[in-house]
Amino acid sequence: MTKISASESPTSDVIVIGLAKIEGKGGVTTAVRPVSSNFKLDENLLMKTLAELGATGAKNEVLKIPGVNQKLLVVTGLGVHSDNYSHETLRAAAGAAARSLAGIKKATFSLPHKDSIGFAAIAEGALLGSYSFDKFRGKTKNDQKAPLTAIEIHTRFGREKSILRRAEILAKNTHLVRDLINTPPSHLTPISFCEEIRSLAKQFSLKVEITSDSQLRKLGYGGIIGVGQGSANPPRLLHISYQPKGAKKSLAFIGKGITFDTGGLALKPAQGMEAMKSDMSGAAAVCAAILAIAELKLPIRIDAWAPLAENMVSDNATRPSDVIKIYGGKTVEVLNPDAEGRLILADVLVRAAEVGHADKKRKFEGLVDVATLTGAQVVALGTRTSAVMTNDDAFSKKFLACADSTGELFWPMPLPEDLRASLDSPVADIANIGERMGGMLVAGLFLRDFVAPETPWLHLDIAGPAYNEKHPHGYTPVGGTGVALRTLVALAEVTARR
Ligand code: BES
Ligand code: MN
Ligand code: ZN
Repeated sequence: MTKISASESPTSDVIVIGLAKIEGKGGVTTAVRPVSSNFKLDENLLMKTLAELGATGAKNEVLKIPGVNQKLLVVTGLGVHSDNYSHETLRAAAGAAARSLAGIKKATFSLPHKDSIGFAAIAEGALLGSYSFDKFRGKTKNDQKAPLTAIEIHTRFGREKSILRRAEILAKNTHLVRDLINTPPSHLTPISFCEEIRSLAKQFSLKVEITSDSQLRKLGYGGIIGVGQGSANPPRLLHISYQPKGAKKSLAFIGKGITFDTGGLALKPAQGMEAMKSDMSGAAAVCAAILAIAELKLPIRIDAWAPLAENMVSDNATRPSDVIKIYGGKTVEVLNPDAEGRLILADVLVRAAEVGHADKKRKFEGLVDVATLTGAQVVALGTRTSAVMTNDDAFSKKFLACADSTGELFWPMPLPEDLRASLDSPVADIANIGERMGGMLVAGLFLRDFVAPETPWLHLDIAGPAYNEKHPHGYTPVGGTGVALRTLVALAEVTARR
């Protein structure tokens, strides 16, 4: 893990500053301007070099200029000049610079900011950008550069020690989410996922409960059993509970944990199937979120639930037309075994609400499920914006305000009543697929059937944003991104406070 510190006077030989665009009439870039946290340098020479390099100050542009003030100067694009850069602009610019500094020992980040939240954003971005996944490299490991070893933030807000600690906890746990996502299904099964989280949970006072496949069958978890029964790697239900003394409220997080989604008998095409190792991103996010929340000692009860299964093809796999019984008794006609996420989530939505409401000492604030649920999410919102669906607009607003502060892109989506009828089944209480158009909303409506109207509930579809198959950008690497973790932690912070 990369080390981080704060200083009012930079001490490293590598200095990261910002570069902004100055726009003239009609939005034409007329000049660039170096901007920093008051770092003194020879501007005349620098401006000449920047012109020679064709620097534009665009976001994600990172240029390295040796020999400025006897240092290596790294300029990271901030986009159009502003007197008050958004926290996400700072986070992303720091992240892009950090990614470009792999292999280097220490760098000072001197980016313009006006408050301790700006300082926090720079620290987060720099740490989030300092990531690599080389666990499965053998002979090519040495060709990979290690992430930046040490980060120093040039700031006058460094006395607030809790800021760097929080940034470290968020980054460490985001890296955990990314690692879990990037780990192939040959090495990450429902059982190994549980063991990994169990061992990490030992550091904090967390209760960990792992329900085996035979217990799940006995207890009536027909969704998890149905999806998992086609695999040689048996399913599990992982439940982690954080119950600090004096907590007056509680929240339940539920993450989809399909360690690999072949589509089952509705087999997915070979091209692109490899990305389905990321189908446990929701489970990874909720487990890492509770670890972060416990380490931050937030005064709120959190229950994290991860139904884990591998959706495979075999003579034991669920057939289209099979009927299964979800925890609590509702029956589902499985018309498409590739719509498996909603089946394992249905079991746990029912169970998590039962546990949440049973705690009479604390106010149950609601359920949040996180899932790489539909390809339709990616069609609707693209690869970087996640969807929020809900039965409680106030809860959704609160969450969206948290997302605004963390820089994670979430957008509210409706649950249109007219689409619900498409899920009616001629043989069971509900079918697992309905109308194809608006598929993300249909999936949301399916889940809503397993939540009592009086239980506040959010459904986060992170299908696109969870896994970056294109190019790295800002603090986001290729592969698992860790999306949702920071906003879940922010939601816990805000809920604990009020
Ligand atoms: N895990 C997939 C959804 C997905 C697609 C995640 C692309 C990430 C990227 C999910 O289990 C699935 O297969 N959904 C189906 C549902 C359909 C059969 C109603 C889909 O979206 O095609
Ligand atoms: Mn599927
Ligand atoms: Zn899936």
